[in-house]
Formats: sequence, C-alpha cells, structure tokens
Amino acid sequence: MPCGPKEYAGASNTLDAAGRRSPGTPFPHESSTRMTSLPIALGSRRAVTDAPLITPLVERWSPRAYDPGADVDPEVVRTILEAARWAPSASNTQPWRFIVARRGSRAFATVHAALNGRNREWADSAALLIVNVAEAVGPDGLPRRWATYDLGQAVAHLTVQAQHEGLHTHQMGGFDAARIHDAFDLDARLEVISITAIGVLGDADTLSEPLREREAAPRRRMPLDELVLSGE
Ligand SMILES: Cc1cc2nc3c(=O)[nH]c(=O)nc-3n(C[C@H](O)[C@H](O)[C@H](O)COP(=O)(O)O)c2cc1C
Repeated sequence: MPCGPKEYAGASNTLDAAGRRSPGTPFPHESSTRMTSLPIALGSRRAVTDAPLITPLVERWSPRAYDPGADVDPEVVRTILEAARWAPSASNTQPWRFIVARRGSRAFATVHAALNGRNREWADSAALLIVNVAEAVGPDGLPRRWATYDLGQAVAHLTVQAQHEGLHTHQMGGFDAARIHDAFDLDARLEVISITAIGVLGDADTLSEPLREREAAPRRRMPLDELVLSGE
C-alpha cells in the first residue's frame, strides 16, 4: 500500500489564526475523562502548542498501532536517511550509523526479537525498524564526547522528515543492545543506542487493551518556563 500525507479526521487543534492556544482552552488531558472505551481521535494526538510550530512537529507523536500491510517505498526510506545525513555534528564527525530492517526480512526478525516484551508486542507491524548506532570512538581510538548527542539529532531529523512523508515513528530504548551488537557483528567502537519503529499509522483498536490505553493517554509536556533555566 502506498503511503502519503495523512488527513486527520476530527483534528481539532485549539490554536487561533496566529497559532496560539486560546486562553482558557483546556489541554486535552485536562478535559479528557476515561478514553479507553472511545475511538482514539487522531486529532487529539496533535501537539497543542503555546507557539506556532511547523506541521510535522505538531503532528508527530509516537504511535504503537501501525498498518501491518503498509510498506514504505525505498525512495522514501532513502529520503528519511538523507535527512539524518544532513544533521549537524561535533566537528562534522557524523558519528551516526543505522541498521535498516524491513518487515519480513531476517534483519527485522533479529531486531524485533531483541525488543523487550511490551515493545515486541506492537512493533511487529511497523514497516521498518531502524537501529540507531553511535560511533562512540573515532578511528583514531579517541572517545567522541558528543557521538550520542549527534546521533540523537540525526534521528530527530529523520523523524521530522518521516512525518513530512506521511509516516509515523516511535523511538525505543527498551531492548537488548548487546544482543543486537552481537547479532550484527558490530565493531567495538560502535554503540547501539536506540531503535526507531517507522510505518503508516494503523488502527489502535487492534492493540491489546493495555497498549490501547497508552495510545490514548494524554500527551503531556512541562511548561516552557520550567525548561528555560535562565533567559534574560
Ligand atoms: C530515547 C527514547 C527511548 C524510548 N523508549 C521507548 C520504549 O522503549 N517504549 C516505548 O513505548 N516508547 C519509548 N519511547 C517513546 C517515548 O515514551 C515518547 O516519545 C514520549 O512519551 C513522548 O511521547 P510522544 O513521542 O508521543 O510525544 C522512547 C523515546 C525516546 C526518545
């Protein structure tokens, strides 16, 4: 099945024309009661932001329900990896490496088997599992202090580009990194950091109840003024 930008039925971002949240508008978690017996309104997954953001950032969230019949076009895979490639990095060292595993491949089965129980339960329907690897020690044998920072930034680029391509992403830290390191016979200088599930959004009703509950849980963020330690 081809993938394209998703339309969000019932999307209701409570922003005004300038992209600001109207005063007094409750955040979704403030107004929601018990959501588990109701269909998940995808519009409610959009970020309710206090400042206007570009669309892929507003629409990005981390679903667990993916369409098990949808593949990602190889050109689109190339595009999202290209977005990672153009991330900035310390001294332009570009310490990000990726294992790209398509659903149905042996690599996918290997990566999937290394996930912890809950992640294994939902991630099998993703079209791709991408293992995010940092070259934490350079070819000169010196540790790269910012390797994981740079990798994270490259993955952020990838997720935003994926969202722009009509896909969704879900990053995971819950897996056995040593198992993946061994299975892919990775060099000792490489550190397996995270895994990103990527695919076309699926039907949350196909999930088990505990996962479905998480899927519908309110999206929360700390207030901006708690994040800025000093801002004169
Ligand atoms: C490094 C990292 C590790 C994560 N590990 C997991 C995980 O193992 N399982 C999971 O379901 N979600 C995982 N997440 C997803 C986060 O829980 C999610 O991004 C966060 O709750 C915010 O939700 P949102 O992405 O929908 O905005 C991880 C995210 C990151 C960035």
